[in-house]
Amino acid sequence: MNWIIDTDAGVDDAIGIAMPFVPGRYPDFKLIAITTVAGNVPLHKVNVNVGAVLELLQQPMPFYAGCDRPLVEPYVDAADFHGDDGLGDGGLSHTVRQPEAEHAALALVRLAREYAGHFSVIALGPLTNIALACNLDREFAHNVSRLVIMGGAWRGQGNQSSAAEFNFAIDPESAKVVFERFDARVELLPWETSLDCMYSFERFDAVAKTGTARAHFLNQMVAKLNIKMREQFKLAGFPMPDPLAVAVALDPTLIRGERVARVKVDVGHDAGRALSTLEFRRAHPNTRVVVDMDYERAFEMIDAAWSV
Ligand code: RIB
Ligand code: CA
Repeated sequence: MNWIIDTDAGVDDAIGIAMPFVPGRYPDFKLIAITTVAGNVPLHKVNVNVGAVLELLQQPMPFYAGCDRPLVEPYVDAADFHGDDGLGDGGLSHTVRQPEAEHAALALVRLAREYAGHFSVIALGPLTNIALACNLDREFAHNVSRLVIMGGAWRGQGNQSSAAEFNFAIDPESAKVVFERFDARVELLPWETSLDCMYSFERFDAVAKTGTARAHFLNQMVAKLNIKMREQFKLAGFPMPDPLAVAVALDPTLIRGERVARVKVDVGHDAGRALSTLEFRRAHPNTRVVVDMDYERAFEMIDAAWSV
């Protein structure tokens, strides 16, 4: 299967991007490109961060710059969490790599046509590029075998409000378009699933002890964040939403609990904006909402990827 990761690289995005790159472990998973979108940090910073991670991983695949703002409303970032540079202000956001000239949405459409039936996408940021691809080519959704999305909040524990999770909150209009255009084959990793079991701080320490270049990069990236997690957010560990979505893409057998539903996204401008609702009756289901998974196996996949 040929995959694209669409990302607003951020720290957890970067952790997820490395996961497929463990020699010999995922022979059926071929990452053919990365597409970037404004989200955690502005697009130009996302581009630098993707270049930096691809250099670390020594991966030559192209990356394509996408939308620098949401479909309708102005752009708002999450630098307060991911750091001003988007990689934890760990001094890692530098690269010689440049994005291709082609817009990410056009690359998504082109590659989906080229590999139709053997093409899937992992979406780790706001769904602006994916929605644009859906509107540029009415066959796009049909050409995608699996669309694995990190986003939404299904049981009222959002991170932007009780209703809204960041990726959907930045661009609910795009999320609405995507869930309307995809009549099937969507797997959704909502925010709460990443709260139910977090990656322990001890695991970071164990990875650091391996002393590899990747381990050093990871611990530089999360050093300041871990202090924030412990002291400001009083968390017992590190939520890993994007890496859990990548883990599901790499191995769907990790899913231990799901709700099959039609996902709808509120685009109003009141308290419920970006609320993601699971409809079980009135509409044809299009999404497997992952509500429980084998966290230990998923976290071991992170450990392995960052200890290489
Ligand atoms: O709400 C979590 C999501 O928002 C993750 O994708 C994180 O990287 C941020 O983009
Ligand atoms: Ca993200």
